[in-house]
Amino acid sequence: MPHNNLPSWRQDLKSSRKKEGKSPSNRWIQLATISEENEPRLRTVVFRGWNEDSSMIIFTDRRSEKIGHLKSNPNAEVLWFFLKTKSQYRFKGKICELSDNKNYWDLLSEKSKTSWFWGPPGEKINPGVQSTHKILSKLPKSENFVVLNFEIDSVDLLKLEQPIHKRYLWEKIKKWEKVEINP
Ligand SMILES: Cc1cc2nc3c(=O)[nH]c(=O)nc-3n(C[C@H](O)[C@H](O)[C@H](O)COP(=O)(O)O)c2cc1C
Repeated sequence: MPHNNLPSWRQDLKSSRKKEGKSPSNRWIQLATISEENEPRLRTVVFRGWNEDSSMIIFTDRRSEKIGHLKSNPNAEVLWFFLKTKSQYRFKGKICELSDNKNYWDLLSEKSKTSWFWGPPGEKINPGVQSTHKILSKLPKSENFVVLNFEIDSVDLLKLEQPIHKRYLWEKIKKWEKVEINP
């Protein structure tokens, strides 16, 4: 059934994703946070789907640096670029942790679940110590498993179309408003 209340940028995004095809890399997005030292930090994460109409779901590890960043500053930006349509989406918003995350854990493959039981990300590995990354079955939900909810409040879309490029800005002020701006 069509969802009429979806923000109109969701339609643009849907069509960019469709034209891009089904490769796993089409769900790789770049997430920017602000460190405790007020410096920008950027990394690739997997887009895991939507929550409500305009919140993206991202999985991460509680021990990763981004968790500390988000505790001191929930502001974040996500960049999603599509090669085929030369479209760049910049999503701005705030991130919080979803406490009810059991159903997301249950959907993961056993192989994916294992990574939450590896050593702390970013920590030095002792030379000579062989790390065991075996795939175990029936893993209980890890304490380190975090589901992030990225609530989007503005979207900046740049399309490198010919003969002129197009750029649109959506902002959520009570409801979503769209304007066309100079590229
Ligand atoms: C293709 C790809 C997908 C990734 N997906 C995720 C992801 O979904 N969640 C995540 O926390 N890190 C993911 N990573 C690892 C992050 O890029 C990053 O190295 C890690 O989250 C630690 O970042 P931080 O120290 O800034 O918190 C992915 C990396 C790559 C290359």
